[in-house]
Amino acid sequence: MQPPLFTDLHSHLVPGVDDGSGSVEESLACLAALRAEGIGALVTTPHLLLPRLATASALERELALHREAFEELAQAAVDRADLPAIGLGQEIWAPDASQIRRVTRRTDVGLGRGRYLLVEFGFDLRGTHEDVVRETVDAGRGIVVAHPERYRYLPGVAPLDQMHRWRELGALLQVNAGSFSGYYDVVSEKLAWSMVEAGLVDLVSTDHHGNRRAGVSLREAYGALAGRGERRLAEQVLARAPGQVVRADLTAEDGEVVRSTGAAG
Ligand SMILES: [Fe+2]
Repeated sequence: MQPPLFTDLHSHLVPGVDDGSGSVEESLACLAALRAEGIGALVTTPHLLLPRLATASALERELALHREAFEELAQAAVDRADLPAIGLGQEIWAPDASQIRRVTRRTDVGLGRGRYLLVEFGFDLRGTHEDVVRETVDAGRGIVVAHPERYRYLPGVAPLDQMHRWRELGALLQVNAGSFSGYYDVVSEKLAWSMVEAGLVDLVSTDHHGNRRAGVSLREAYGALAGRGERRLAEQVLARAPGQVVRADLTAEDGEVVRSTGAAG
């Protein structure tokens, strides 16, 4: 059976603005490779490191930088049928509610300018970070927690319990495709598969960083999930759910969109 066209909502392919792709040429080559492996649409999400952008003007400058570099890429991608459709978002580092509050009301921040924010808490968790989820949801936005399988949790905190809690508060959980194959390390690999068993995977994305981190494959993740009897889940988390997230409108009244059921298929 042919896999569906995938939607990728986490990558670092805006050229020259973060630790991802370094040039327009590199980004175009990566995008062509991603299209060839079945990605029909992609929202690219440069790091927005809020704690390092201390002032309002620093934040404005950074967002303008993202926008200009993305426009340059989009111009270069015009009329290229061998590339996915592309949109701009951000991967927002927000360790606490006061940080995420700086962007929740901004219509220029969000995945494809929609209502969902892609948020990371920092690799070494300092607490539950539940205040970030609450603040985002209370502001009427959706929140996608980036790669929870890769965090180092506080001693005494069971990662799956913490993930359940974020989800109860309204977050969606996004696993990196590479985690299923042990691309990062064995701990995140085990946790990613435990999340599958626990029905905690809502979305799977590449977190592609350009040539520096090529080889993260949605098609392989699809194959790995399907190989373990999770074809329906694979279609949900790689195609349907990310497609809905990207289309979710800022003006939508109903915030509830996509939720993995964890059902094997
Ligand atoms: Fe990322």
